[in-house]
Amino acid sequence: MEVKIFDDYDALSQRTAEEVIKLVKEKPDAVVCLASGNTPLGTCEWIAKKVKAEKIDISKCNFIGLDEWVGVPKENTGSCSYFFHHNLFEPLNISAEKIFLFDALSNDLNGECKKMDNIIKEKGGIDLIIVGIGMNGHIGFNEPGVDFSLLSHVISLHETTITVGQKYFAGAIKLSKGITLGLGHLMNAQKAILIANGKAKAEVISKTVNEPVNNNFPAGIMQKHPDGFVFVDKDAASIL
Ligand code: GLP
Repeated sequence: MEVKIFDDYDALSQRTAEEVIKLVKEKPDAVVCLASGNTPLGTCEWIAKKVKAEKIDISKCNFIGLDEWVGVPKENTGSCSYFFHHNLFEPLNISAEKIFLFDALSNDLNGECKKMDNIIKEKGGIDLIIVGIGMNGHIGFNEPGVDFSLLSHVISLHETTITVGQKYFAGAIKLSKGITLGLGHLMNAQKAILIANGKAKAEVISKTVNEPVNNNFPAGIMQKHPDGFVFVDKDAASIL
């Protein structure tokens, strides 16, 4: 695992977007998995800007959504699905058959997990996975204590995730479960990048990089990825 420290959030976002652009140029039908949340906002903006400026054909690229809040409709502005459509798929005009997101309203969530695992398998695996980090060290919704080998699964959310997660929604919302790609997917991906910015993430980034790997702090698994990177701005790197 390699840590790269950028001057600011914009530089971090631009560099992360370049990873996607570079991949799509080399492999137009690449499989890219992206997290939602505040951290990847800048990355999405830069991907859209670069695709347009460099006239890149991104129409063959496959996009996998990392996770979703169970029971939250995709029209809700706080859903992960809304994030992807609003910030990436609509600006880039990505067609529906290239978009693979969990249906968190399904009454067969385990079936949704199997479907996602099959899609990833059929497409030849994930080429690049870009994830954020939660305040309890989660990746996607892989909460502390998670089995590192899991593929897609449904999980009960921790108190921290439920509390912090309110920030995405217009009003208070009852959250209890998440549906997520597993850390098995992260480890199977050809390349994995964890991105974080801001002082609030400094402690979890320090733990990710410096603490012995333990499933009570899921993000530590990045240390084990053969082509794993942690991209941070100076604030998130401030106690490394
Ligand atoms: C959320 C999501 C993650 C996300 C993380 C950090 O709960 N489940 O996929 O990466 O927490 O979010 P943010 O970037 O908003 O800090």
